[in-house]
Amino acid sequence: MKHIPVITVDGPSGSGKGTLAARLAEHFGFHLLDSGALYRVVAAAALARGTPLDDGAALAEMAQALNIRFEADGVHVDGVHLEARIREEAVGEGASRVAALPQVRAAIHDLQLSFRQPPGLVADGRDMGTVVFPGADLKIFLEASVEARAQRRYNQLKNKGLSVSLPALLASLQERDERDRGRAVSPLEPAKDAHVIDSTAMDIDAVVSVALQLAAGVGLGKTAQT
Ligand code: C5P
Repeated sequence: MKHIPVITVDGPSGSGKGTLAARLAEHFGFHLLDSGALYRVVAAAALARGTPLDDGAALAEMAQALNIRFEADGVHVDGVHLEARIREEAVGEGASRVAALPQVRAAIHDLQLSFRQPPGLVADGRDMGTVVFPGADLKIFLEASVEARAQRRYNQLKNKGLSVSLPALLASLQERDERDRGRAVSPLEPAKDAHVIDSTAMDIDAVVSVALQLAAGVGLGKTAQT
């Protein structure tokens, strides 16, 4: 069977990993897995149905029954476009809670593996390199200081015309980071063989360029389309 290459991009909220993963997927013509969106979908569905965010068994059963599709305009769940809803702060907060439950992680494990299709995959999340794709061809762990990440999120939301408070964003990122790093299952941590990039003082073009050099180093540059 032909090898299907995988690049994993893990890191904390607001590190820029989503943008990096999308840029790499575009560059190589690979599929893209936004695994955080799956946890966000589970949280949004639970909030809509009144399912408690700590009921692992009920959430896992619900997650397995959801029909989740990624389209050009974002995520659709059971035929309903939910992209704007899942990006809300409250849903991100809920996602971090449901993601701490082992039953929920197990329920979406196979769905995540199914994204590995020719010609290749870029997978973005927290445990892509450690748990879901431990044999990935290239593993990147993108860091940035919590202050830089809060400032980026603040600028993004401001640009969308939303009124936000920087101290509140900083506090919420810190809380989510602590939960993601401290949980017993699939904690946020770099894989032993991951390349850690600190993007605190880098713009996204510089990060992409470092990542492309790393990709070339493992022979992925040869399949580039650009
Ligand atoms: O990346 P994003 O902010 O969309 O992820 C939402 C939440 O989902 C994170 O705070 C994290 O708790 C969880 N998550 C996870 N494992 C992943 C991706 C996301 O636990 N692979």
